[in-house]
Amino acid sequence: MCNPRCLFVYVLLSLSLLLINCQLLHSQDSVKILSPDELNQVIFQLIDGAPFYQFSRNGQVLIEPSRMGFILRNEQPLSTHFRILKTEKRNFQETWEQVWGEEKLILNHYNEMRIELVEDQPNPRKLNLIFRMYNDGLGFRYEIPKQDHLHDFQIMDELTEFVLAEDYEVWWIPVYKYHRYEYLFQKSPASQIDTVHTPLTMKTPSGIYLSIHEANLTDYAAMTLLGSQNQVLKCDLIPWSDGVKVKTTAPMQTPWRTIQIAEQAGDLIQSHLILNLNEPNRIQDVSWIKPGKYVGIWWGMHLGTYTWGSGPKHGATTANAKKYIDFAAKNGFYGVLIEGWNVDWDGTWWENGEIFNFTKPHPDYDIVEVTRYAAANGVKIIGHHETGAHIGNYEQQLEAAFKYFKEFGIDAIKTGYVGQDVISTEGTREWHHGQYMVRHYRKVVELAAKYHIMLDVHEPIKDTGIRRTWPNMMTREGARGQEYNAWAEDGGNPVDYFTIIPFTRMLAGPFDYTPGIFDLEFKHAGRPNNRVRGTLAKELAIYVVIYSPLHMAADLIENYQNQPAFKFIKDVPVDWEFTRVLNANIGEYITIARKDRHSSDWYVGSITNEDSRVLEVPLSFLNEGTKYVAEIYADAKNSHWENNPLAIAIQQVIVDRDSILKLDLAAGGGQAIRLSPTYEDHLLKKNEN
Ligand code: NOJ
Repeated sequence: MCNPRCLFVYVLLSLSLLLINCQLLHSQDSVKILSPDELNQVIFQLIDGAPFYQFSRNGQVLIEPSRMGFILRNEQPLSTHFRILKTEKRNFQETWEQVWGEEKLILNHYNEMRIELVEDQPNPRKLNLIFRMYNDGLGFRYEIPKQDHLHDFQIMDELTEFVLAEDYEVWWIPVYKYHRYEYLFQKSPASQIDTVHTPLTMKTPSGIYLSIHEANLTDYAAMTLLGSQNQVLKCDLIPWSDGVKVKTTAPMQTPWRTIQIAEQAGDLIQSHLILNLNEPNRIQDVSWIKPGKYVGIWWGMHLGTYTWGSGPKHGATTANAKKYIDFAAKNGFYGVLIEGWNVDWDGTWWENGEIFNFTKPHPDYDIVEVTRYAAANGVKIIGHHETGAHIGNYEQQLEAAFKYFKEFGIDAIKTGYVGQDVISTEGTREWHHGQYMVRHYRKVVELAAKYHIMLDVHEPIKDTGIRRTWPNMMTREGARGQEYNAWAEDGGNPVDYFTIIPFTRMLAGPFDYTPGIFDLEFKHAGRPNNRVRGTLAKELAIYVVIYSPLHMAADLIENYQNQPAFKFIKDVPVDWEFTRVLNANIGEYITIARKDRHSSDWYVGSITNEDSRVLEVPLSFLNEGTKYVAEIYADAKNSHWENNPLAIAIQQVIVDRDSILKLDLAAGGGQAIRLSPTYEDHLLKKNEN
């Protein structure tokens, strides 16, 4: 039994705990909101005048009280001495339509709290915080309003933290490395990471999935995360070459800091939080924005069969272009990408970006004839601007270069920024993801919109959902693309690549991976260590699993001759009405079903890692009462990514929504399926209409 002294201490302790709790619950310095489904909660608090937020789900704290604020240059930090001036809450719900995408209609439903803070000291400055709580996560941003005591200022550090409640497992790629975002995701406990890019996907010990990223990166530096042994991830903005992180003027808003949450890994993929936190479409006439598939004079350069520059192996010749146009026309492709068409992009081009000319073709490439021939055959040329990351040279010619392509009826341009750092107009060396380049990439998107040009950006800034506002920003690279299989010293992308990328890089947005290599081993290229690590059926499945509104059939066109599997690439759409993740386990397997936006067809793509496996897939997403022909492109019985990658079994079966398909995936394999209503059902539907 407890003695009286012990009882006294106990009562005292309980009383003080009660007091602290009451203070938290009733303090005017603490405000909270729940998600519309009331499962997620964010609490904002001032602790000794400093702002903190905490994020929880179902009563379980996932992000513990985490710091907010800024360190400014030649100013007092904007991070303490605050009091709450005003709090506003509201609820918002809308459904908006994507111009193109993985899903046609998107529900945007959140509860918002807006907190206005003011410093409790002479010459007080103001800082507003906006929190939006969704069923699939949290977005918050800072707003520095117009005010008397802060006008032009420079941010030296953003203090935002994400204090993980436990040592979560994380999938990460490093920052400040030569190849920008082009690294393989590694998995480790959060306590072991250094500086990493976002999206940063995490799994808690209780099996909840989280992803930290940002939305609407407009005129600010990209956020990376600096880890620490005690699981505190701190926002680490990419600096300018002079060390400043952000140069800005009040009023301003930061990008949204986002934490997506899901109980199943696949639900992270179905979250639209990043898009929802971007501004609505600003392009009124979108009739010129056309998602589509393309082929191109491209893979040959990566294999060494052709060269980008002039000489006997020059790829971008008029004759070659016409061959590709014929192929595109015959097989119903939107366009033909032609790289290596312009003079001065020659020799060791990655070293001389200051001289590239964006309006002068090589003499053996007759752009007038090529574009005339393309138009006569109903095919578009996709223009190409490799900048060598020499921004000064590119920006000087930018408008003229867009006008030039437009004159020839070119509506889509692939841009490229090869180089570790970029050379600015002023001659400074900047990072690809600092504020300087965020501004540059945005300038290009907005100018392209003015000229009705769609963009496919390679070596891009990461995607933060701006395609909602600028739907001409179609797709981008920002990861290790197919090209790594051609020349990477490590041999290429590993077998499990597509069982990780959908849950990490793809949470940011579309990826121009350039799938569709049929000659998987390219033995004739004389690169014995390089190949595609997967089966032919998996190469088809990538078209469904990896979303891109511009998808390439990347192989040399001769490799598609007499290949029955090529039919799938011709059929598969790039614009969807619905997307459903049917099963998923990060690093092991994934199956996605998508419905074509312009027909009643569904497509399924499934991919496994090194392990062969059988996945049962119920087709309950299909229409009630309709029979479908399932055209199945499966790994053959004896396929294996390493020693028998080309073995494929193509068959048709009749299914309906009660069917359960057994997907037999080989080691490093996959499966691709087209589901179309049977002829009778198709006729029936037509008559009903
Ligand atoms: C790298 C890009 O990823 C690739 O697609 C392009 O062919 C080269 N740069 C040359 O621009």
